[in-house]
Amino acid sequence: MKKVVACCCMVATLAFSLVGCSDKTRSELKNGAAELSSYSDVKIGVCIYQLDDNFMSLFRDELVRYLLSQGFSEDNIIIYGSDNNQAVQLSQVEDLLGEDVDALIINPVNASVAHTITDMATQKSVPLVYINREPSGDEENRWVDNDYKVTYVGCDARQSGIYQGEILLELGMDKLDVNKNDVLEYYMIEGAPENVDAGFRTMYSVSTLQNAGIETKCLLDEVGNWDRMTAENITSKGLDQNLVPDVIICNNDAMALGAIEAVRNAGLKPGEDVFIVGVDALPEAVSEIKNGSLCGSVFNDFILQSHEAADACIRYLKGESCEHFIGCDYVKVTRDNVDDALKAIEELGIEGN
Ligand code: GAL
Repeated sequence: MKKVVACCCMVATLAFSLVGCSDKTRSELKNGAAELSSYSDVKIGVCIYQLDDNFMSLFRDELVRYLLSQGFSEDNIIIYGSDNNQAVQLSQVEDLLGEDVDALIINPVNASVAHTITDMATQKSVPLVYINREPSGDEENRWVDNDYKVTYVGCDARQSGIYQGEILLELGMDKLDVNKNDVLEYYMIEGAPENVDAGFRTMYSVSTLQNAGIETKCLLDEVGNWDRMTAENITSKGLDQNLVPDVIICNNDAMALGAIEAVRNAGLKPGEDVFIVGVDALPEAVSEIKNGSLCGSVFNDFILQSHEAADACIRYLKGESCEHFIGCDYVKVTRDNVDDALKAIEELGIEGN
């Protein structure tokens, strides 16, 4: 896990200011602003698909902390939660552009609607950075072809799926195949329909096991909406029907924590009777790795991603060019490096949510 500047865990203050840049800053921005003197008057508009998503909360807090450290002012960081509703988000983007924001950072509800958001921002010459949910290749090509000030920052979800499969493989079939029938029976708890991360994590976790010669059987595959309680209910329902899996593969940690709870409630021991794996390395999930209940997770580097997103805005605001795609690597977290992960979480002051 990367060590970065100390982070005081802060809850983002949602500031809704109608006051735009000072005239001086505005004319600096208009002039390409290589000499932009201060960011304190520069307005950034942010939309997060759903504010109470555990991972996106960490991302958002770190984004605000980093923007403040770069000289942006709290009053000029405007954050909207889009209630997982694309129509709501589109009207928020319209409002933000109406309020004369100088740059946008958007976590789209539905990445296939990025085309519309891009058009709205570019028509007003406002730089735009997408985070976490990647628009299509066609859409990204449009940014390149038209030299739009538009960038995507995020990870390749295929890697996280492969890492989930590898974490399970490293435990070995002897351990995982609890009922000794030479078949790995699993539950798949998926994030959201038509979500790229969910699709790739689902596909690549299982194909990694199968490519290693393991016979798999899916006992249950349901959508948990990235949500802990939903995953707990899905798992409880499956266990109530006597569908006992060797493994529960969850597209994120929030859902893995729900699955752990359900396994415990059913009188089984997670990490002995059923093996559970997640993604994100949320602080609470890392504690469950330490105590053996979660067999592993994959760190989704919200620190690097939020900094890269802010830096991309800054480059555009300064009139500099910027890559249209900025990638980021995942990191496996297992019992082998859990102490390092716990130490990093403590040093960074990150709290669970
Ligand atoms: C994923 C993350 C999930 C959830 C999702 C939202 O990258 O692992 O926990 O936040 O994004 O799209």
